[in-house]
Amino acid sequence: MFLVFPDPQAIANHLSALFIAKIQAKPNSVFGLATGSTMEPIYARFAQQAREQSLDLSQVTTFNLDEYVGLAADHPQSYNYYMHQHLFDLVGFDEQRLFLPDGKCADIQEQCERYSQHIRLAGGLDIQLLGVGSNGHIGFNEPNTSFDSRTHVVGLSERTRIDNGRFFENKDEVPTQAITMGILDIMEAKEVILVATGEHKAQVMADYWYSPVSESMPASILKQHPRPLIIVDEAAASLLPAQACQPAMATAC
Ligand code: F6R
Repeated sequence: MFLVFPDPQAIANHLSALFIAKIQAKPNSVFGLATGSTMEPIYARFAQQAREQSLDLSQVTTFNLDEYVGLAADHPQSYNYYMHQHLFDLVGFDEQRLFLPDGKCADIQEQCERYSQHIRLAGGLDIQLLGVGSNGHIGFNEPNTSFDSRTHVVGLSERTRIDNGRFFENKDEVPTQAITMGILDIMEAKEVILVATGEHKAQVMADYWYSPVSESMPASILKQHPRPLIIVDEAAASLLPAQACQPAMATAC
């Protein structure tokens, strides 16, 4: 079932309120975070409301899904940079509790093992926030990634490099590899929330709806999660059958 909101701002209002309620109920919540255009209004709204409400974020821990191999944390296209720009620098998190894979790490293999372990040692993810690629990737788990995968290095598909080229001046600068949490790490989160907005996500949402659970469509694994929440705006829902859609109640803001 897809929860359908009128537009990205309505989704941002809803998720911001939901995250704030989670943190109030459990101040040491562990969040799995995503980057990308879809997340920008969500982080902007959350940061604004958290500031207005003087929300205490000092015990919250976050783990990001992924990072490009070869980009340093201060590279403007790195996901570390993105997170600081869109969220971490806007509100009072404890910097010691914010974790992202390091794209410049000398021993990437060792880092991957440590990253998945670290999530477990932190008590596991309470909520994993996800976007989705036009090929169905979640994190950077591209089609045909094993559903048993942990944090690992991936070669980015041509589709993903083209999609993400819009953030780079020159498309050849898009890294060819990334580090990503694995599908198993994502599936172990207590709740998963996948968000898709815009007409350009309509086809992948229809693919998700009609696809069996298959490694060729990575997001399809979420159908086996005990608490999946799939949130779309009307544009991303435009190719879905009516029986798949549940109109969302507006969140007061
Ligand atoms: C990014 C990530 C990716 C994106 C996906 C959608 O951390 O994990 O899976 O969520 O590529 O990106 P946007 O939102 O830019 O369409």
